[in-house]
Amino acid sequence: MTDKIPLLIDTDPGVDDALALLMAFNDTRHALVGLTIAAGNVGLDHTVRNALKLCEVAGREDVPVYAGCAEPLLHPAVDAAHVHGLDGFGDIGFEPAARGAEAEHAALAILRLSHEHAGRLLLVALGPLTNIALALKLDPSLPGRVHRFVVMGGAVTAHGNITAAAEFNIAFDPEAAHVVFQAFPRLDLADWEAVIAHGFLHTRAATWLQAESSRARFYDRISMKTRNWSADSRGERWHSADALAMAYALEPDGAQELAERPVAIELAGTLTRGATIVDWNRQHGRPDNARLLMRYDQQRFETLVQAALAAI
Ligand code: BDR
Ligand code: CA
Repeated sequence: MTDKIPLLIDTDPGVDDALALLMAFNDTRHALVGLTIAAGNVGLDHTVRNALKLCEVAGREDVPVYAGCAEPLLHPAVDAAHVHGLDGFGDIGFEPAARGAEAEHAALAILRLSHEHAGRLLLVALGPLTNIALALKLDPSLPGRVHRFVVMGGAVTAHGNITAAAEFNIAFDPEAAHVVFQAFPRLDLADWEAVIAHGFLHTRAATWLQAESSRARFYDRISMKTRNWSADSRGERWHSADALAMAYALEPDGAQELAERPVAIELAGTLTRGATIVDWNRQHGRPDNARLLMRYDQQRFETLVQAALAAI
């Protein structure tokens, strides 16, 4: 038994997922007990392949990787290859990792690990919530064993990124998000609007990526396409959504402003499907189920990212 906090990450790597994973690899106060892999940014074959490769590059082949659901629960969805590259890792043509994924399905691994680390588990979701929703359908008692649950997703005042009102992770599988937001009595949400408020300068990131580490070298290559896309479409700051969520997960005391409110998922709207509806005025009488990250210590965030890239 270790004093470290057991950390389980559900992720769809993805360029910003990769940065978040490097931050988790670099953290000494958490024990990474597994990566469960979702489809999202690109198809499941690629997201699994990318997770395995990142572990190899970082020398973290001790971390088991579990493949999850290849499709959203109900409706097909469009991926984000236009941001992350067709293979999700910038199309650099890397050699696949020597290791393969575990035989166990991600949803079953989530449940098993929640028992093994009952009451202590930090669960972090960086992609669509399909695997976690499936785990909840298999065993609705899951939330009772999770100590803290951090989700990257949503847009708390409906300034979305994939549609006018919705953020990608939620919009990719709104039914899964609905299941998850209904089942967990409390979750910590790092939404897209917080991400937009915590961009780092491309010029600064470019210097971090010059670090003499295999992690920085690899990350520089896989993020190139995304960074160019981001500079063209969003300007001088680069926004790494999953990295901000990971900073909040690993070092919650870096949060400088939080709000607690009821949050529900819009499933039916023709223009708003996948939106996270925050009941700011608590008009519906439902209990607060989400703690919303409004502001995080920017310096702390950037230091965490820089350290993760420079790690040998
Ligand atoms: C989220 O969508 C994905 O493209 C990113 O990896 C991140 O998890 C941001 O909306
Ligand atoms: Ca992601």
